[in-house]
Amino acid sequence: MSGTHDSDGSPTPDATSPGATTPHAPAPGTWHPRPETARDIPAVRRINLAAFDTAGEADLVDALRRDPAAWLPGLSYVTEAPDGTPVAHALLTRCHIDDVPAVALAPCAVLPGYQKCGAGGAVIRALLQAAREAGERTAIVLGHPPYYPRFGFAPAATRFGILPPQPWPDEAFMALSLDGSPPPRGTVRYAAAFGIT
Ligand SMILES: CC(C)(COP(=O)(O)OP(=O)(O)OC[C@H]1O[C@@H](n2cnc3c(N)ncnc32)[C@H](O)[C@@H]1OP(=O)(O)O)[C@@H](O)C(=O)NCCC(=O)NCCS
Repeated sequence: MSGTHDSDGSPTPDATSPGATTPHAPAPGTWHPRPETARDIPAVRRINLAAFDTAGEADLVDALRRDPAAWLPGLSYVTEAPDGTPVAHALLTRCHIDDVPAVALAPCAVLPGYQKCGAGGAVIRALLQAAREAGERTAIVLGHPPYYPRFGFAPAATRFGILPPQPWPDEAFMALSLDGSPPPRGTVRYAAAFGIT
């Protein structure tokens, strides 16, 4: 992960990180999360290519976008920096818990030079709120155990009886009730593009 914090707590870019080439790091609250538009598609790919070590996540987003059974219009979000540049992306796609529809949060990506400045949190919160407003009831995520609990996620298997499709660590596979009701129990089936069976 890139970025450090000044003694006053404000984030500063880490010049040693790949992609950390500009002195930005806007203050929290200056992000502008919104649904992606067709014009954002190249920027979304750039963000995912920069945030991850391989092209896997960028290719996954493109494959999911091509699959109408997986892609949920309005649930791919970007966050703009104050200058209007998209710097973060988060995606929810259709998955199932046994046969009950749910949404899978993946990937989440922030340009390296903008990480740890609130951009990821802003885009994820806005995306989850959009999912609530769209009537989605349960979200799941496989991700950094220290990061996602801040959005309300909790270990899926031990807390909710939602099992991963593969034997993933309990603390990394998390779920969130979007409507406050108990989530369905069962095993998660991801969209085919994930290649998880
Ligand atoms: C993970 C990621 C989406 C988080 O977005 P972000 O904008 O950097 O994070 P935010 O500014 O919203 O939140 C910062 C907090 O998240 C924590 N955090 C960020 N990345 C983290 C990681 N990989 N693991 C654990 N905690 C992480 C920071 O330590 C910080 O914690 P604090 O609030 O307690 O100080 C972003 O760093 C990223 O794109 N990383 C590379 C790709 C990746 O790992 N994606 C997620 C796959 S699960």
